Amino acid sequence: MGFQANADASAPPLAQGSAPAKLILMGEHAVVHGFPAVALPMPALEATVVAWQTPGPLRLHSPVFTGPIAEAAAVPASARGLAVAARQALAMLGRPADGLTLEVRSDVPMGAGLGSSAAVAVALVRAIYAAFGRTPTEEALLVLAHRAETEAHGTPSGVDSHASAIGQPICYVQGHGARRLVLPKPLHLVVADSGRPGHTGEAVSAVAARLRSDSTRTRERLERLGQLAEAVVRSLGAGQVEAIGPLFDAAHGELAELGVSDAGLDALVAAARLAGARGAKLTGGGRGGCIVVLATDAAEQDRLAIALTKAGAARVWRVTQPQVKDMGS
Ligand code: MEV
Repeated sequence: MGFQANADASAPPLAQGSAPAKLILMGEHAVVHGFPAVALPMPALEATVVAWQTPGPLRLHSPVFTGPIAEAAAVPASARGLAVAARQALAMLGRPADGLTLEVRSDVPMGAGLGSSAAVAVALVRAIYAAFGRTPTEEALLVLAHRAETEAHGTPSGVDSHASAIGQPICYVQGHGARRLVLPKPLHLVVADSGRPGHTGEAVSAVAARLRSDSTRTRERLERLGQLAEAVVRSLGAGQVEAIGPLFDAAHGELAELGVSDAGLDALVAAARLAGARGAKLTGGGRGGCIVVLATDAAEQDRLAIALTKAGAARVWRVTQPQVKDMGS
């Protein structure tokens, strides 16, 4: 498994924490500018962080960096977000930054627009709290994960960390938090990965630049994406799942006009439509990464998954969001 806490490999880990990937159904990019977004957890892909008791300063063992993270100066930019969140979690627990190694094991692909960094951050905070027999409050989890995301990406809206931490379908508005959504009917989706990592930071900056240079038209597009997110919430709440297909198509058009799609994503979206999908759009930051496609049922999910693989998708996942009943939350 790569990491061995001590010579005696039989020593068990202290604790571990996990969190799912996230899937944005609607509102990526617009959410950065104050409009609503709709997101789901994607539990088929999960990040896990294992906490081991080890001598010496706090350490990270991850695909991006392995080494001590107790001192800010020693940590490269790629691991700074996790390091800051880990130190702050320990400070909130009244513990020193030593005696632990945090091992990251994640099957959420990086740069796919599926919230890999947020899932790892949420898993890391859960693992640290679990190492001391504690469970973080939702508020602490969100604050710490947001801290990690801010360090890693600059100006995250918070939708990724909310979807991953809450683990339920949400409607999220920056500064107002997340509202859990009720889904009277299950939702069948297919996610297809272009195989080219996206560049969320660059795409977010490109939209901000467009907002400065072509403000009226860009603001209209962002507003329209916000309206589409509200329409998705209404359709899902009314059990009219098929109605979100055309909303996906409209959103992909707006996102393409904003400059965050690319030829590869457009080709996958076109292949999904040709195969009979009810709607398809890019998901996440774009400029690489994934698309999300609406299916009617499990059989259509299979059919679309095969069609998208034939069209060149590097990986496909069937994502089924079960019904969510109103729990009064
Ligand atoms: C990234 O998953 C979603 C974006 O809207 C950025 C953000 O919300 O921070 C592109």
